[in-house]
Amino acid sequence: MAEVYNWQIGRKMEYPYEEKHPKFQFAAVFNINRCIGCQTCTMACKATWTFSDGQEYMWWNNVETKPYGGYPQHWDIKILQLLHDEHQKAGKEMVWNKNGKSQNDTPYGKYEGMTIFEAVPSYRKDGHNVALGYIPSDKEWRYPNYGEDVPYSFTREFIKETDLPEHKVWFFYLQRICNHCSYPACLAACPRKAIYKREEDGIVLIDQKRCRGYQKCVEACPYKKAMYRGNTKVSEKCIGCYPRIEGDDPLSEGEPMETRCVTSCVGKIRLQGLVEINQDGSWKEDESNPIYYLVKVEKVALPLYPQFGTGPNVYYIPPRWVPKEYLRQMFGPGVDDAIEKYSYPSRKLLAVLQLFRTTQKIIFKYEIKEGEKIFENEKWAMYNDTVIGYSKNGKEIVRTTVEEPFFIRDLKHYNSI
Ligand code: SF4
Ligand code: SF4
Ligand code: SF4
Ligand code: F3S
Repeated sequence: MAEVYNWQIGRKMEYPYEEKHPKFQFAAVFNINRCIGCQTCTMACKATWTFSDGQEYMWWNNVETKPYGGYPQHWDIKILQLLHDEHQKAGKEMVWNKNGKSQNDTPYGKYEGMTIFEAVPSYRKDGHNVALGYIPSDKEWRYPNYGEDVPYSFTREFIKETDLPEHKVWFFYLQRICNHCSYPACLAACPRKAIYKREEDGIVLIDQKRCRGYQKCVEACPYKKAMYRGNTKVSEKCIGCYPRIEGDDPLSEGEPMETRCVTSCVGKIRLQGLVEINQDGSWKEDESNPIYYLVKVEKVALPLYPQFGTGPNVYYIPPRWVPKEYLRQMFGPGVDDAIEKYSYPSRKLLAVLQLFRTTQKIIFKYEIKEGEKIFENEKWAMYNDTVIGYSKNGKEIVRTTVEEPFFIRDLKHYNSI
């Protein structure tokens, strides 16, 4: 195994291949606080890419209700259990050391436990068992909405127990796509080398012609986002809507466009982008890129289960009302700061949050023009700033304000029904 640097866990880790990074990385921020669980994203992906025979179980995008839901069922509990068992056997703990937290290369501190690449029992580290994992049973791939809207509760006093900072009765929606990981376990595990990460945008794809259906990718992906198709006997996964990223969609005028699941989001919870990557895998400093700003500057958006070690590139703004202990396991030790920042946003953060779902084109750069103060209390103030988004070619593609703009319908469009 080679040694690579994973900034999400703040240290070097074992990985089967040497460091090699794309020029840009496909990345997204999902704001859990705003999701209404409508599944429009799920259907947008399904209707575009996976409507054919043999793809019945394929939900490249799914939205599951935590803590009980999951697709495939219990995917995260199962991999966490496997990881926990290996730590027990090795006499180690899955803990974070928060020293160095908030530095650029160790933003959440250092994970001192083992990743899925490091926790493979030595007797299995031969051949292609490069990561700890399992293959879900057919039954676990059924019922994508399993556990939907079922809350966790240890009290029946619903009315009295719904105050922030934490609700006693709670659930939240977790929106999931392939994370187009920086150190993909699916890619590392494939004995046919049928999986590759694109140099231009970091999208991880399965070469359908090379794949022989070994399913090592299905076994190794801790997020269970590589899926086997029974009738073609090859595996498939989210393709990051790469024709849209390349600007091939007729609507995009040749400029990179956000994916189907992102642009269709009714709750306006998703923002997608491309971040520039240095040769060593770190992100090129660029505060004017909204994804860079949210993840690296404000650190309000966090990776899903960073301790797995794959370097996932979908980042989540954690839900405010959920017990922190649960969230820390899911998003790491950055949770408390992220929720604090989101609850009392800085002037700039509030402006950048307005960019979610304002345009189908990818925003590479934003600019803020200051407006007047419109609200203030002892904890924070709100300004009616204007935020402007620019495309890859520097064209203005969106302009909006913090205070929701009013549009008055022209009389000729008056609704007569
Ligand atoms: Fe591969 Fe899974 Fe990461 Fe997607 S989420 S790149 S399928 S390891
Ligand atoms: Fe589906 Fe595209 Fe979203 Fe991937 S990025 S889940 S392919 S809609
Ligand atoms: Fe949530 Fe948006 Fe998907 Fe609806 S479309 S379930 S709001 S992520
Ligand atoms: Fe490789 Fe997965 Fe196909 S392991 S051969 S890409 S099923």
